[in-house]
Amino acid sequence: MKTVQLTQPDDAHLHLRDGVYLKTTVPATAKQFARAIVMPNLKPPVTTLDALIAYKARILSAIPAEFSFEPLMTLYLTDSTTPQQIAEVAASKEVTAIKLYPAGVTTHSEAGVKELTQLYPVFAAMEAYDLPLLIHGETSDPTVDIFDRERYFLDQMESIVQKFTQLRVVFEHITTQEAVQFVLSASDHLAATITPHHLLLNRNHLLSGGIRPHYYCLPVLKRRQHQEALLAAATSGNKKFFLGTDSAPHTVSTKEAACGCAGIYSAHAAIELYAEAFDRAGALDKLEGFASHYAADFYRIARNTQQITLIQKPWKVAKALPFGDEIVVPLWAGDSLNWQLLENRE
Ligand code: DOR
Ligand code: ZN
Repeated sequence: MKTVQLTQPDDAHLHLRDGVYLKTTVPATAKQFARAIVMPNLKPPVTTLDALIAYKARILSAIPAEFSFEPLMTLYLTDSTTPQQIAEVAASKEVTAIKLYPAGVTTHSEAGVKELTQLYPVFAAMEAYDLPLLIHGETSDPTVDIFDRERYFLDQMESIVQKFTQLRVVFEHITTQEAVQFVLSASDHLAATITPHHLLLNRNHLLSGGIRPHYYCLPVLKRRQHQEALLAAATSGNKKFFLGTDSAPHTVSTKEAACGCAGIYSAHAAIELYAEAFDRAGALDKLEGFASHYAADFYRIARNTQQITLIQKPWKVAKALPFGDEIVVPLWAGDSLNWQLLENRE
């Protein structure tokens, strides 16, 4: 039986939600990842240091005793965030990065940023204190076609990286070949996360032969040619591209609705889903750098020392998983994956 050993991976982009949902999301991630960058788009969003510390404590109390897992916390940027607040946050050492949602682009982004240029003094403070900026890179202009919103954001991305040359920026969950090119042409202060769903799926999976609400996420799935560009980037061995699942669970009733929520739950099998994508591309040898090394290097934290083992042994993903009082339909529900985490399922 074929096996692959990896340094334990980190998830550089994760939604854990809150309350009862932590009982599902935290163990799912902790069984495979050593650390995760935790998104702050709760309702209300995590906009203060006090709220962030309290949220972190709730996450820590949901970690099963058998796993060691470190949540790396992010603060939600708003139009009223100040440089002074950045200084306090930097001094606290509790905050790994700051998350920017253009207002209105996605789930719980209403409190996000309306005018990016207004925040330039805040970006200058982040640059000075060396706090990374994580960007949901889509334009919030409702007149721009939803499939073009990432491409239209590139101008704003360009302005930020040109003006703040020492600011570390992560272009989150990239979905287009133009974004790949943009990241490649920028300095090493710009990196990007890539999700398992954007590597495994394209917009035909979402819309052809019936509409699949469980494949609806933001940025929305794109054409196959973009999927292929992302696969090429992820498997290239370039340290600017690293693993960030964007696992974003919603209950089945809020997904299968007249106005279904955006978000795909992938934490139940994240590393196995990436292994599937890399194996299909004939690039399993590139998985370790992407999953376990490059995010740690970018965030300037030590690489993990523990190992995980994947074995080539097909297994079926559950059709649904418990989620609070309801269920969540996970990515790959009812379908077969070829790789499985040894520690997980033996
Ligand atoms: O599909 C998404 N879901 N994209 C996001 O940016 C947010 C996320 C969520 O929190 O549900
Ligand atoms: Zn996200």
